[in-house]
Amino acid sequence: MKTLVASILPLAVAALLGSAALAEEAAPANGAAPAAHHEEGATPHYPLKEPKEEEWTFAGPFGHYDKAQLQRGLKVYTEVCSACHSMNLVPFRMLGELGYSEAQVKAFAANYEVQDGPNAAGEMFTRKAVPSDHFPAPFANAEAAAASNNGAVPPDFSLIAKAREVERGFPRFVGDIFTQYQENGPDYIHALLTGYEEPPAGFQVPQGGHYNPYFHAAAVLAMPKPLSDGQVTYDDGSPATVDQYSRDVSAFLMWAAEPHLEERKRTGFMVMIFLAIFTLLIYLTKRSVYANKDH
Ligand code: HEC
Repeated sequence: MKTLVASILPLAVAALLGSAALAEEAAPANGAAPAAHHEEGATPHYPLKEPKEEEWTFAGPFGHYDKAQLQRGLKVYTEVCSACHSMNLVPFRMLGELGYSEAQVKAFAANYEVQDGPNAAGEMFTRKAVPSDHFPAPFANAEAAAASNNGAVPPDFSLIAKAREVERGFPRFVGDIFTQYQENGPDYIHALLTGYEEPPAGFQVPQGGHYNPYFHAAAVLAMPKPLSDGQVTYDDGSPATVDQYSRDVSAFLMWAAEPHLEERKRTGFMVMIFLAIFTLLIYLTKRSVYANKDH
């Protein structure tokens, strides 16, 4: 009985939390009418469209990264996104994990210039990057980035795939615990990059804005559609389409945010096996210790 209660209790708590979240959604704190998405004048719920669940090699308990895909994603990042988005926390040497040799990583880093110093004369200077340097930012500071992008700062990419885990609400988040769904971030980025469309009739797109129903904070964002078919040339014959680019760069950003995902999943699996064996041993011990005792 006790074990039954123990196994049902977390579920019950999760369900309660879920219905509380639902109630909150239905009756906003400011006393406005219940969140009606389509009512004239009501604040809509963003994102207007939910990201679709995509297939990822790194999903599930045995998930692993596809190195060829990550290399393509790196290409998309370097040739397109890095014009606006920094990736401050990622050092070039980490690219070795994508299957590049040390010499290749060195040559890749040497394409970039970083600021260093001060030298003996007390002056800062620029030099070619080396593998221990991090990807340099495209803008000198956030103000310069905002000034070039209609007032919006392109967010840093180091952790973006983990920072945009768009909520899925009750009851799906309960199911997600059991299916181990953790790919909200790449699903969201893929949906955003492929989701630019014409605004609905009568919708006024503000100056410098771009309509995208998948953006999590509004219906428009300051980033113009960054990808178009044929823009990046792949060496491995993968399709040169917006869908493929988005898929690859989303996987790459997941890797940048969680480079040790494979190790974490492997360890988690070993821990579960250990716990199962341990439970069995404890049970057998208990049976043998109490075998001849009166209850
Ligand atoms: C011309 C500059 C520019 C380029 C190139 C660019 N972006 Fe952006 N991006 C922005 C700006 C500006 C924002 C902030 C938008 C806002 O907050 O309104 C942004 C925001 C984002 C966001 C965050 C959206 C959110 O939920 O807050 C993601 C993800 C993103 N960009 C992905 C990419 C990817 C992937 C590429 C390359 C394929 C790329 N961007 C290329 C300017 C750019």
